Parts: sequence; structure tokens; C-alpha cells
Amino acid sequence: MACHAVIPAAGVGKRFGAGMPKQYLPLAGRCIQQHTLDRLCAMTAISQIVVAISIEDTRAQALPYAQPQRLRFVPGGAERMDSVLAGLRALRERGAADSDWVLVHDVARPLLRAADVRHLLAVLADDPVGGILANPVRDTMKRGDADGIEATVARDNLWHALTPQMFRLGALTHALEAALADAAVVTDEASAMERLGYRPRLVEGARDNIKITFPDDLALAEALLAEQIRTGVQT
Ligand code: C5P
Repeated sequence: MACHAVIPAAGVGKRFGAGMPKQYLPLAGRCIQQHTLDRLCAMTAISQIVVAISIEDTRAQALPYAQPQRLRFVPGGAERMDSVLAGLRALRERGAADSDWVLVHDVARPLLRAADVRHLLAVLADDPVGGILANPVRDTMKRGDADGIEATVARDNLWHALTPQMFRLGALTHALEAALADAAVVTDEASAMERLGYRPRLVEGARDNIKITFPDDLALAEALLAEQIRTGVQT
């Protein structure tokens, strides 16, 4: 069964506030996007790699990548789900089958470990639906607002949803199109599948697969990357 990757990279990094999409910020000498895409390109289990970028993006295709011949760039959309759908449609146009697996991975997660992807592929190989990399929540969780705590939420079954998220090309395309048709904004692929009654699997991944969201995440990512290099786990 072939496995492909779609990388939504068409966000503007509003929450980050750097005045440029956050994937172009430097991390240990290369920008975040180069780290992410170079790592995915090095994974031989992945056949086609499609990157959805903003139509205003003039940088993405000009960057030096380790294996630029492995990358296809397509225009993304207004929301993350539109960008993912654009990537999925590009895969179909290029001959991918509905039963093929697709890994959807945020461009803003440059520290993805190859071992985590191998683990995800192995655990889900025979699964009818698919699943996601995730981390169990460690802290006591509270729900509240400016007035204070409203409730303590039992953390026993709570997980942080990470990426890659792995589903079949046909089923995921259908789920995202259904969410769009219902005007439901989903922030990850699993929620689109959940809306249709599927139960995606939770596959525990490394805790250093962080998403760069706020400026202080960059310093954390630098430290985590240095540790990955020191211990030799980055590829
Ligand atoms: O903003 P956030 O970090 O949640 O975005 C997650 C991922 O979705 C990022 O990789 C971002 O580039 C991507 N995205 C996209 N198209 C959009 C919005 C976000 O590809 N319209």
C-alpha cells in the first residue's frame, strides 16, 4: 500500500506575529520549512510529497532543499482544511489511489522523528480507519475564563493531538469535503473523520514533536533539536 504526505504550509502565522509565515523563521541555520520537508523527503516509506502553500508565497519553492525533486507545491486555501484538501486533490490527479495512506503533517513541526513515522505506519498498517500521533496530557487540566476556574477536567483520557495524522486518501477527502459542505471548520484531519462517526486511533509519539506557534517555541525547538542531534534520533 502506497503512503504519501500532504504538508499544509499556507498559514500566515497570525498567532506568532513575526510579520511573515512562521515556517520561514530560522532554526539552527535553516528555516523551519526546510527542516520539516527535508526530514519527510528522507523517509523512504513516503512516495509522493505535496506541499500546500499560499498563492502569495514567493519563497517556498526557491529554498534550497535536500531533495527538491521529491516536492510538489500546490496552492493552499483560506483554512488549514482547504489547504489539506488541495493537497489531497493533487495526489489524486497524480494517480494516487483512494486506498493509499496519506500522512498530513504541519509544516510548523520541524522535529518529527523518523522512528515516530515508522511506529505510526506499523501500528496502523491494517487499520480500517487510521489515526494520529498524540501525547497523553500530563498536567491537571482546567477549563475557565478571566473570572477563574469553571471546572477541573479529568486528564485520564486526554491527549494532545499531534501530526502526522494518517488516513486513507479517499476517506479523508470525503470527510473534509463533508465538513466543508456543512460549514464545519475542523482544525485537524481526525476531527473531520470523527464527525462521520469514525474512531481514529491514538498512537503515542515523542514529546519533542512540538508545533511552533508562539515566539518562545523557537528557543525550545532549538534546544530540542540540539538534543536530538546529540542523541542521534533526528533521522
Ligand atoms: O496556525 P496553525 O499553526 O494551527 O497552522 C497549522 C498548519 O496549517 C500550519 O502548517 C499552517 O501553515 C497550515 N495552514 C494552511 N493553510 C491555512 C492555514 C494554516 O496550510 N489556510
